[in-house]
Amino acid sequence: MPTTLEAKTPRLVTALPGPNAKRVLEQDAKFMSPSYTRDYPLVAKRGHGAIVEDVDGNAFLDFAAGIAVCSTGHCHPKVVAAIQKQAAELIHMSGTDFYYESMPQLAERLALTMPGSEAKKMFFTNSGTEAVEGAMKLARYATKRDKMIAFYGCFHGRSMGALSLTASKSTQRKGFGALLSGIEHIPYPYAYRCAHGHTAETCGAEILEQLEGQIFKRLFDPEDVAGIIIEPIQGEGGYVVAPNFFLQELQRICRQHGIMLIVDEVQSGMGRTGKWWAHEFAGIEPDILCSAKGIASGMPLGAIVAKESVMRWKPGSHGTTFGGNPVCIAAALATMELIDNEYKENARRMGEYLFARMAQWTKNYKIVGDVRGRGLMIGIEIVRDQRTKEKAADLRNAIVDLAFHKGLLLLGAGENTLRLSPPLLIDEEQADFALHTLEECFRETEKKI
Ligand SMILES: Cc1ncc(COP(=O)(O)O)c(C=O)c1O
Repeated sequence: MPTTLEAKTPRLVTALPGPNAKRVLEQDAKFMSPSYTRDYPLVAKRGHGAIVEDVDGNAFLDFAAGIAVCSTGHCHPKVVAAIQKQAAELIHMSGTDFYYESMPQLAERLALTMPGSEAKKMFFTNSGTEAVEGAMKLARYATKRDKMIAFYGCFHGRSMGALSLTASKSTQRKGFGALLSGIEHIPYPYAYRCAHGHTAETCGAEILEQLEGQIFKRLFDPEDVAGIIIEPIQGEGGYVVAPNFFLQELQRICRQHGIMLIVDEVQSGMGRTGKWWAHEFAGIEPDILCSAKGIASGMPLGAIVAKESVMRWKPGSHGTTFGGNPVCIAAALATMELIDNEYKENARRMGEYLFARMAQWTKNYKIVGDVRGRGLMIGIEIVRDQRTKEKAADLRNAIVDLAFHKGLLLLGAGENTLRLSPPLLIDEEQADFALHTLEECFRETEKKI
């Protein structure tokens, strides 16, 4: 009999939340910031692969991966060994003021994943937010301009600069006063809800017209725009995929006006889509890329990757105490090797497997409006009525909760979308469990409406 963690599928042994979980929830309610957004009472104790065990011994199948972070699964032995070895040798030095050999090693490794022939330079951060914040500073510095264009629905982080680019949910901005000026948001190409009736390949032509014909003529002279930042696949916004032509056209517009094209691949990168980066599907070559989340399997690391011709800021113009800490870098080097050798290909293969099985869902379930994504970045949009496409946030939330009680960990994205972002190592048995559980949840939810 396998132990709970060795099992590949869930095993629930108490009612949820169990007695130990209840104790933690009480303490948490007393001491923790109420700004956190917990959807259900999972109190994690340990994890292995795609399985998470809670404080009461219940084992769950994790299709959330700590918000798309645990790319190589929980506590992969090779990542753990790399962290332990590095922690025993050198924990911190600060790459801002000193050198250590793993830092340029990881930078070289990351550069190899980037398309295009131009050399790349890196700056390591502690988070996705910091990568975005630094990317915006870099775009301003490199162009000597200060305006930015971003997209509705995109999430780029919560520091004042990154939050000014974020236009995901108004609660994320409400109460914090004036943000950065000089930022305009334009619609994101959202094929399922395309106002012009376009397909997933053609949606967005009117948005580009608006950018060139309205924004650049009436608001910002393009010669004043430092950067356009976009998630090639919206994460928090609902796992919406930008069409290839749209990204290609953005690149053309950026090149025409000397604007930095910044791709935020904090969520969509590191092999999750079956390629290192989601923007590779469009064959573009961004000027600046932001990475974090899956890069170090859960250790706090982010990266700004830029063309060498762009990252030419002077010593002292940007820095960090912790960013690119040796332990995080060791985890990232081990993570990248695993993704390269196995998990990128597995994400592609398992993505195909899941999409093939989900192909009929919009026909079989009246609350499933759309199934979309790439690789293991999959969004399922829940609607009250397929014809009107009325968003059903309450039903989506009910499904997330129901799935938890059946042992499957999910997160929502956007107003009414289920997000599937499992570790990149899942196998067919685990995919089958998730599919079967989701179908059960759909059937039970449909019976109640
Ligand atoms: C696309 C994207 N950019 C930036 C961030 C911010 O990253 P972090 O939470 O690591 O600061 C996130 C986090 O969800 C994200 O999904």
